Amino acid sequence: MSGFGRGKVILLGEHAVVYGVPALAAGLERGVTATATPAAETELACAPWGTSDGLDADTDLGRALRAVIEAHPDAPLPPVRVEADVALPAGAGLGCSAALGVAVLRALDELAGRAASDAEIAERSMIWERVFHGNPSGLDNTMAAHGGVACFRRGEPLERLDVRAPLRLVIGDSGESSSTRAMVEQVARQRERDAARFDKSLDAIGTLVSNARLALEAGDAHALGQLMDLNQHLLAAWMLSTTALEDMIGAARAAGAKGAKVTGSGGGGCMIALVESEEVGAKVVDAIEALGFAAFQTEAG
Ligand code: MEV
Repeated sequence: MSGFGRGKVILLGEHAVVYGVPALAAGLERGVTATATPAAETELACAPWGTSDGLDADTDLGRALRAVIEAHPDAPLPPVRVEADVALPAGAGLGCSAALGVAVLRALDELAGRAASDAEIAERSMIWERVFHGNPSGLDNTMAAHGGVACFRRGEPLERLDVRAPLRLVIGDSGESSSTRAMVEQVARQRERDAARFDKSLDAIGTLVSNARLALEAGDAHALGQLMDLNQHLLAAWMLSTTALEDMIGAARAAGAKGAKVTGSGGGGCMIALVESEEVGAKVVDAIEALGFAAFQTEAG
């Protein structure tokens, strides 16, 4: 019995989405596959990490597993072993923990003979995300359940977007792991220090997101890329960029990307670059690899 949860990239609007601004995101083909089988004791084993966490484990994985098992609609569940194959880097801004939570829930549901909609899985996986991220907007787990290209606003149903053509993206990984919880808290401290200034940035990001949505729907990669670049300036002003991310972003733009920015929580993790063709994508991948970072091309939508 197996279930899948997708990774995601945020095209525009990360962090601002925590405060109610819409964000644009795209599901990745890569994600987490989980398999559930009856067992003597409940545990979650994750490959390739080599971890194994039971219900009593004093770890985020143990706490998250306990939370979703206790809240399962068919609880109490008989003991179950869940094996997860994680094909995403952790702490890299690609929604790894949310993809894992969604995969675990789907595997548990399949074993219990339960058919849940994507929306139900998205809602039930919020409890998992809270264990990892404290005050998550719900974007990561919603995208992990639904995939596609979408506009997400906290507390509202996901709005799928019709994109003219699939988006071609290059994802560059700084190799620096970062904690979403810590980065969300860092941004919250900036808001406490100067609420008026912070709200101006939120308004600006909201405007960029609504224009980017129009560009996406019109298939205007040039405009979308420019809006991503502008969002990057505001993310950098919130101190979410790093030298490694800036280097990759600069190299991507110089190699022909339409736009490039941090994706996800920042402070490390990944950047994305929008490219118009596979050929340009290959040049961008080469430019990032030449700096010593890992990069790959993907299509979304
Ligand atoms: C993390 O992938 C996205 C953030 O906006 C946090 C959240 O939405 O919960 C940084």
